[in-house]
Amino acid sequence: MDDTQIEMLPMLGEFSSIASQYEHIMFYYESGIQQIVAKLQILNNEFKNNHERNPIENIKSRVKSLDSIIDKMKRKGIPLTTRKREIKDKAGVREICPLISEVYQVANMLVNQADVEIVTIKDYIKKPKENGYRSLHMIVLVDVYFSDHKDKVPIEIQFRTIAMNFWASTEHQLRYKKSRVFTEEMQQELKKCADIMADADDKMQNLANVSGIVQPIE
Ligand code: GTP
Ligand code: MG
Repeated sequence: MDDTQIEMLPMLGEFSSIASQYEHIMFYYESGIQQIVAKLQILNNEFKNNHERNPIENIKSRVKSLDSIIDKMKRKGIPLTTRKREIKDKAGVREICPLISEVYQVANMLVNQADVEIVTIKDYIKKPKENGYRSLHMIVLVDVYFSDHKDKVPIEIQFRTIAMNFWASTEHQLRYKKSRVFTEEMQQELKKCADIMADADDKMQNLANVSGIVQPIE
Protein backbone atom coordinates (compact mmCIF):
# COMPACT_ATOMS: atom_id res chain seq x y z
CA MET A 1 0.00 0.00 0.00
CA ASP A 2 1.49 3.36 -0.85
CA ASP A 3 0.93 6.69 0.88
CA THR A 4 -1.59 8.05 -1.52
CA GLN A 5 -4.09 5.28 -1.02
CA ILE A 6 -4.67 5.97 2.63
CA GLU A 7 -6.71 9.15 2.70
CA MET A 8 -10.50 9.31 2.38
CA LEU A 9 -12.71 8.79 0.39
CA PRO A 10 -12.76 7.91 -3.28
CA MET A 11 -15.12 5.03 -3.82
CA LEU A 12 -12.94 3.98 -6.70
CA GLY A 13 -9.76 2.03 -6.80
CA GLU A 14 -8.60 -0.58 -4.38
CA PHE A 15 -11.45 -0.39 -1.87
CA SER A 16 -15.03 -0.93 -2.87
CA SER A 17 -16.90 1.02 -0.22
CA ILE A 18 -16.39 3.70 2.39
CA ALA A 19 -16.90 1.09 5.10
CA SER A 20 -14.16 -1.17 3.81
CA GLN A 21 -11.85 1.79 3.26
CA TYR A 22 -12.39 2.82 6.84
CA GLU A 23 -11.74 -0.71 8.07
CA HIS A 24 -8.45 -0.61 6.23
CA ILE A 25 -7.61 2.79 7.70
CA MET A 26 -8.46 1.51 11.20
CA PHE A 27 -6.11 -1.44 10.78
CA TYR A 28 -3.30 0.71 9.42
CA TYR A 29 -3.48 3.33 12.18
CA GLU A 30 -4.16 0.78 14.95
CA SER A 31 -0.90 -0.87 13.91
CA GLY A 32 0.99 2.40 14.41
CA ILE A 33 -0.75 2.96 17.74
CA GLN A 34 0.25 -0.53 18.92
CA GLN A 35 3.91 0.24 18.21
CA ILE A 36 3.84 3.53 20.12
CA VAL A 37 1.89 2.11 23.07
CA ALA A 38 4.27 -0.86 23.32
CA LYS A 39 7.25 1.51 23.38
CA LEU A 40 5.66 3.60 26.14
CA GLN A 41 4.81 0.51 28.18
CA ILE A 42 8.37 -0.79 27.89
CA LEU A 43 9.76 2.55 29.10
CA ASN A 44 7.30 2.53 31.99
CA ASN A 45 8.12 -1.05 33.01
CA GLU A 46 11.86 -0.47 32.80
CA PHE A 47 11.55 2.64 34.95
CA LYS A 48 9.41 0.74 37.45
CA ASN A 49 12.07 -1.99 37.70
CA ASN A 50 14.88 0.50 38.22
CA HIS A 51 13.19 3.11 40.38
CA GLU A 52 10.14 1.39 41.90
CA ARG A 53 7.97 4.13 40.49
CA ASN A 54 5.84 4.54 37.36
CA PRO A 55 6.39 7.72 35.36
CA ILE A 56 3.31 6.93 33.27
CA GLU A 57 -0.07 7.12 34.96
CA ASN A 58 -2.20 6.19 31.96
CA ILE A 59 -2.07 5.66 28.20
CA LYS A 60 -5.13 6.14 26.00
CA SER A 61 -5.45 5.80 22.27
CA ARG A 62 -8.01 6.09 19.51
CA VAL A 63 -8.41 6.09 15.77
CA LYS A 64 -10.59 9.02 14.71
CA SER A 65 -14.12 7.94 13.83
CA LEU A 66 -15.27 8.13 10.24
CA ASP A 67 -17.72 10.91 11.18
CA SER A 68 -14.96 12.98 12.81
CA ILE A 69 -12.65 12.53 9.82
CA ILE A 70 -15.38 13.67 7.42
CA ASP A 71 -16.40 16.58 9.71
CA LYS A 72 -12.82 17.76 9.93
CA MET A 73 -12.26 17.52 6.17
CA LYS A 74 -15.42 19.57 5.57
CA ARG A 75 -14.39 22.10 8.23
CA LYS A 76 -10.97 22.54 6.65
CA GLY A 77 -12.35 22.60 3.09
CA ILE A 78 -10.45 19.44 2.09
CA PRO A 79 -12.21 17.60 -0.75
CA LEU A 80 -13.46 14.20 0.41
CA THR A 81 -11.92 12.66 -2.68
CA THR A 82 -8.37 13.83 -1.95
CA ARG A 83 -5.70 11.21 -2.31
CA LYS A 84 -3.25 13.00 -0.02
CA ARG A 85 -2.87 12.35 3.69
CA GLU A 86 -4.12 15.70 4.92
CA ILE A 87 -5.55 14.71 8.27
CA LYS A 88 -2.51 14.10 10.43
CA ASP A 89 -4.29 13.13 13.65
CA LYS A 90 -6.28 10.09 12.52
CA ALA A 91 -4.37 8.08 15.10
CA GLY A 92 -3.99 9.59 18.55
CA VAL A 93 -2.19 8.49 21.69
CA ARG A 94 -2.50 10.34 24.98
CA GLU A 95 0.13 9.67 27.60
CA ILE A 96 -0.40 10.96 31.13
CA CYS A 97 2.32 11.39 33.77
CA PRO A 98 2.19 12.59 37.37
CA LEU A 99 4.92 15.22 36.87
CA ILE A 100 5.95 17.76 34.21
CA SER A 101 9.55 16.48 34.26
CA GLU A 102 8.26 13.01 33.43
CA VAL A 103 6.24 14.35 30.50
CA TYR A 104 9.47 15.64 28.90
CA GLN A 105 11.54 12.63 29.99
CA VAL A 106 9.17 10.10 28.43
CA ALA A 107 8.71 12.20 25.27
CA ASN A 108 12.50 12.47 24.82
CA MET A 109 13.08 8.77 25.38
CA LEU A 110 10.44 7.97 22.78
CA VAL A 111 11.60 10.33 20.05
CA ASN A 112 15.25 9.35 20.52
CA GLN A 113 14.39 5.87 19.24
CA ALA A 114 15.65 5.19 15.71
CA ASP A 115 12.27 4.10 14.34
CA VAL A 116 10.38 7.17 15.61
CA GLU A 117 10.70 10.35 13.58
CA ILE A 118 9.34 13.73 14.68
CA VAL A 119 7.16 15.56 12.17
CA THR A 120 5.96 18.45 14.38
CA ILE A 121 6.19 19.49 18.01
CA LYS A 122 3.82 21.97 19.68
CA ASP A 123 4.76 22.72 23.25
CA TYR A 124 1.61 24.09 24.87
CA ILE A 125 3.25 23.57 28.28
CA LYS A 126 5.95 26.17 27.71
CA LYS A 127 3.47 28.27 25.70
CA PRO A 128 -0.10 27.49 26.86
CA LYS A 129 -3.05 28.30 24.60
CA GLU A 130 -4.94 31.49 25.40
CA ASN A 131 -7.77 29.54 27.04
CA GLY A 132 -5.27 27.88 29.40
CA TYR A 133 -4.87 24.54 27.60
CA ARG A 134 -1.51 22.88 28.30
CA SER A 135 0.01 19.70 26.80
CA LEU A 136 2.99 18.67 24.73
CA HIS A 137 1.85 17.65 21.23
CA MET A 138 3.89 15.74 18.71
CA ILE A 139 3.16 14.18 15.39
CA VAL A 140 5.59 11.34 14.79
CA LEU A 141 6.13 8.73 12.11
CA VAL A 142 6.62 5.25 13.52
CA ASP A 143 7.98 2.34 11.49
CA VAL A 144 5.56 -0.55 11.09
CA TYR A 145 6.45 -3.78 9.31
CA PHE A 146 3.63 -5.27 7.25
CA SER A 147 3.78 -8.56 5.33
CA ASP A 148 5.78 -7.27 2.39
CA HIS A 149 6.85 -3.75 3.21
CA LYS A 150 7.61 -1.23 5.94
CA ASP A 151 5.59 1.95 6.33
CA LYS A 152 5.92 5.08 8.43
CA VAL A 153 2.59 5.60 10.18
CA PRO A 154 1.75 9.11 11.44
CA ILE A 155 0.56 9.26 15.05
CA GLU A 156 -0.43 12.32 17.10
CA ILE A 157 0.81 12.01 20.67
CA GLN A 158 -0.37 14.25 23.48
CA PHE A 159 1.83 14.17 26.58
CA ARG A 160 0.28 15.70 29.72
CA THR A 161 0.28 15.67 33.49
CA ILE A 162 -2.69 14.38 35.46
CA ALA A 163 -3.59 17.99 36.31
CA MET A 164 -3.46 19.07 32.65
CA ASN A 165 -5.62 16.10 31.75
CA PHE A 166 -8.18 16.89 34.45
CA TRP A 167 -8.54 20.39 33.05
CA ALA A 168 -8.59 19.40 29.36
CA SER A 169 -11.10 16.57 29.81
CA THR A 170 -13.49 18.72 31.80
CA GLU A 171 -13.10 21.72 29.50
CA HIS A 172 -13.76 19.52 26.48
CA GLN A 173 -17.00 18.24 28.03
CA LEU A 174 -18.15 21.74 28.92
CA ARG A 175 -17.42 23.05 25.45
CA TYR A 176 -18.72 20.22 23.29
CA LYS A 177 -21.89 19.19 25.08
CA LYS A 178 -24.73 19.89 22.62
CA SER A 179 -27.09 21.46 25.13
CA ARG A 180 -24.32 23.62 26.49
CA VAL A 181 -24.24 27.05 28.02
CA PHE A 182 -20.77 28.50 27.58
CA THR A 183 -20.41 32.16 28.46
CA GLU A 184 -17.43 34.48 28.40
CA GLU A 185 -17.55 34.42 32.19
CA MET A 186 -17.31 30.62 32.23
CA GLN A 187 -14.36 30.84 29.88
CA GLN A 188 -12.61 33.17 32.33
CA GLU A 189 -13.36 30.80 35.21
CA LEU A 190 -11.89 27.93 33.21
CA LYS A 191 -8.75 29.96 32.56
CA LYS A 192 -8.44 30.49 36.32
CA CYS A 193 -8.77 26.73 36.85
CA ALA A 194 -6.01 26.18 34.27
CA ASP A 195 -3.76 28.56 36.20
CA ILE A 196 -4.49 26.70 39.43
CA MET A 197 -3.60 23.41 37.71
CA ALA A 198 -0.37 24.92 36.38
CA ASP A 199 0.50 26.18 39.84
CA ALA A 200 -0.21 22.75 41.37
CA ASP A 201 2.01 21.11 38.71
CA ASP A 202 4.86 23.47 39.60
CA LYS A 203 4.46 22.89 43.33
CA MET A 204 4.33 19.10 42.87
CA GLN A 205 7.44 19.31 40.69
CA ASN A 206 9.26 21.28 43.40
CA LEU A 207 8.26 18.71 46.01
CA ALA A 208 9.48 15.88 43.79
CA ASN A 209 12.77 17.70 43.14
CA VAL A 210 13.34 18.35 46.85
CA SER A 211 12.43 14.78 47.80
CA GLY A 212 15.01 13.54 45.30
CA ILE A 213 12.64 11.23 43.42
CA VAL A 214 13.36 13.11 40.17
CA GLN A 215 16.09 15.26 38.72
CA PRO A 216 15.04 18.92 38.43
CA ILE A 217 14.28 20.10 34.87
CA GLU A 218 16.20 23.06 33.43
P1 GTP B 1 -7.13 20.47 15.31
O1 GTP B 1 -7.70 20.94 14.02
O2 GTP B 1 -8.11 20.54 16.47
O3 GTP B 1 -6.49 19.13 15.21
O4 GTP B 1 -6.02 21.54 15.68
P2 GTP B 1 -4.47 21.54 15.31
O5 GTP B 1 -4.22 20.65 14.15
O6 GTP B 1 -4.01 22.95 15.28
O7 GTP B 1 -3.84 20.77 16.51
P3 GTP B 1 -3.51 21.12 18.02
O8 GTP B 1 -2.21 20.43 18.21
O9 GTP B 1 -3.58 22.55 18.37
O10 GTP B 1 -4.69 20.36 18.83
C1 GTP B 1 -5.07 19.08 18.53
C2 GTP B 1 -5.76 18.37 19.68
O11 GTP B 1 -5.32 18.84 20.95
C3 GTP B 1 -7.27 18.51 19.74
O12 GTP B 1 -7.89 17.59 18.89
C4 GTP B 1 -7.55 18.25 21.22
O13 GTP B 1 -7.50 16.85 21.51
C5 GTP B 1 -6.37 18.90 21.89
N1 GTP B 1 -6.63 20.30 22.20
C6 GTP B 1 -6.13 21.39 21.59
N2 GTP B 1 -6.58 22.52 22.15
C7 GTP B 1 -7.42 22.15 23.13
C8 GTP B 1 -8.23 22.89 24.06
O14 GTP B 1 -8.28 24.11 24.09
N3 GTP B 1 -8.98 22.15 24.95
C9 GTP B 1 -8.95 20.79 24.96
N4 GTP B 1 -9.71 20.16 25.85
N5 GTP B 1 -8.22 20.08 24.09
C10 GTP B 1 -7.46 20.74 23.17
MG1 MG C 1 -4.74 18.18 14.96
